[in-house]
Amino acid sequence: MARVVVTGRIPGEAVERLRAVHDVVSWESQDTISRAELLTRVQGAEAILSLLTEKVDAELLDAAGPQLRVVSNVAVGYNNIDVAACTARGIRVTNTPGVLTEATADIAMALVLAATRRMGEGERVIRSQSPWQWGMFYMLGMGIQGRQLGIVGMGQIGIATARRAKAFGMTIAYTKRTPLDEPTARELDATHMDIDELLATSDVVSLHCPYSPDTHHYINAGRLAQMKKTAYLVNTARGPVVDEAALVDALKNGVIAGAGLDVFEHEPTVHEGLLALDNAVLIPHLGSATVETRTAMANLAATNALAFLDGATPPNLVN
Ligand code: DGY
Repeated sequence: MARVVVTGRIPGEAVERLRAVHDVVSWESQDTISRAELLTRVQGAEAILSLLTEKVDAELLDAAGPQLRVVSNVAVGYNNIDVAACTARGIRVTNTPGVLTEATADIAMALVLAATRRMGEGERVIRSQSPWQWGMFYMLGMGIQGRQLGIVGMGQIGIATARRAKAFGMTIAYTKRTPLDEPTARELDATHMDIDELLATSDVVSLHCPYSPDTHHYINAGRLAQMKKTAYLVNTARGPVVDEAALVDALKNGVIAGAGLDVFEHEPTVHEGLLALDNAVLIPHLGSATVETRTAMANLAATNALAFLDGATPPNLVN
């Protein structure tokens, strides 16, 4: 029996599966675990199931102790984990790709529509009981039929978003180190571009690249200026991929037309400038937030940890 520490609430079945074979300590409060509590709880853990809200860094690994063997993140993104520090200590890291692809692509597409059709702004008019009336020129947005969606980072979620956008009549451009395989490129009728061409020609740019030091502020003032003045930016990847202050300036000064954001540079804090802007649709990191998806993520994280503790290779190793 290994000591397994689960750092936040996850759906019951996953915890029960772990509990059936291991000694599990799980954080069951609705509130996020405090850092001090976390550092105490991880002591003696052989496996940790971590949520995005917990920073798994050298300090935490030291607090856990040398017996820690695996960190199983309940997320596909793992920028909350210092993978290099884990690797240096011989600790394996796993994540949960695949199971949140469709849910996240749904939210990306929802943001494309919400931003281009001014849905946040419209909802605020109704909720604030401001006067309004149907009008020929009232609150016009941009139709997406025939427009180009530029996908930055054409992995599984990018592809799933492209499928949805194609069904809405959009054409697809994308950046990716290695171009798509022939059948997928043909299915999506997708054009491979470099980032400069994609930014200059797309009507909506949707970010789907992982966050790493290489993609920190990948979308900065310079890149925003490369976009069409009529274009929209959608981010369901990670907040710090975008320089949020530069985005606020761009939205304020008409450098681009609007944005739909599910993620923020300093979550859960949102740049004050964004809050004041009508042309930004803002939602609180809901990409994977369906009952089905969160259950599947928790189960996959449990499967990864269980496999590792059982001496097998976990299906989703990061290092
Ligand atoms: C992930 O898994 O990385 C998502 O951002 C969680 O919603």
